Amino acid sequence: MKIFLDSAHIEDVKKAYDMGAISGVTTNPSIISRENRKFDELLAEITSIITDGPVFAEVLALDAEGMIREGRALAAKSPNIVVKIPSIPEGLKAVKTLAAEGVTVCVTVIFSAAQALLAANAGASYVAPFVGRLDDIGENGLDLAAEIREIFDAQGIETKIVAASVRHPVHVTELAKMGVDVATMPFKVIMQMATNPNTARAVDGFLKDWEKVPKE
Ligand code: G3P
Repeated sequence: MKIFLDSAHIEDVKKAYDMGAISGVTTNPSIISRENRKFDELLAEITSIITDGPVFAEVLALDAEGMIREGRALAAKSPNIVVKIPSIPEGLKAVKTLAAEGVTVCVTVIFSAAQALLAANAGASYVAPFVGRLDDIGENGLDLAAEIREIFDAQGIETKIVAASVRHPVHVTELAKMGVDVATMPFKVIMQMATNPNTARAVDGFLKDWEKVPKE
């Protein structure tokens, strides 16, 4: 399963990429707004770091024509841009047009398997179920990811599942076990995965013991 960073914070993009932890970056309007920088400049900087993987950027329009216009403009910025379109009826119209033109599209804010199926049929390359936000309302987000996986496998659908709104390392390992293609997550979750107090304690112990080894 591939790991993407769900952030537009340049320092975190660089750190996660240099660690070999990520092979793509996802953003949304809320993530962009946290950086207090012009969108075009920020996106250009991210695509200059992530040259060998996808960078997801979302449209803002809610009508198909507007989404198509924005989607074309985003896709023209860099060959590795994936255009995020919200899972609404007008969005599906935009997906059909953009996908036919060769634009790579992710249908996002998915909260049901039915939405994912329609997105795949419309031509989406990725679907993004929001795992954590389902947990937030007392449902099981992992169950949704598993249901989409089951349907796509049963139907031979090649659209990739990029699980979003991932909140902790157990989400990540469970998503990997069920064969989800990608999990996108905040930098904090990547660092939670990369660190373990037992490992730190063991490394510390090795260094302390090494001090007892005669040096001459
Ligand atoms: O990329 C969108 C999604 O990951 C949002 O996550 O934590 O705001 O629910 P969150």
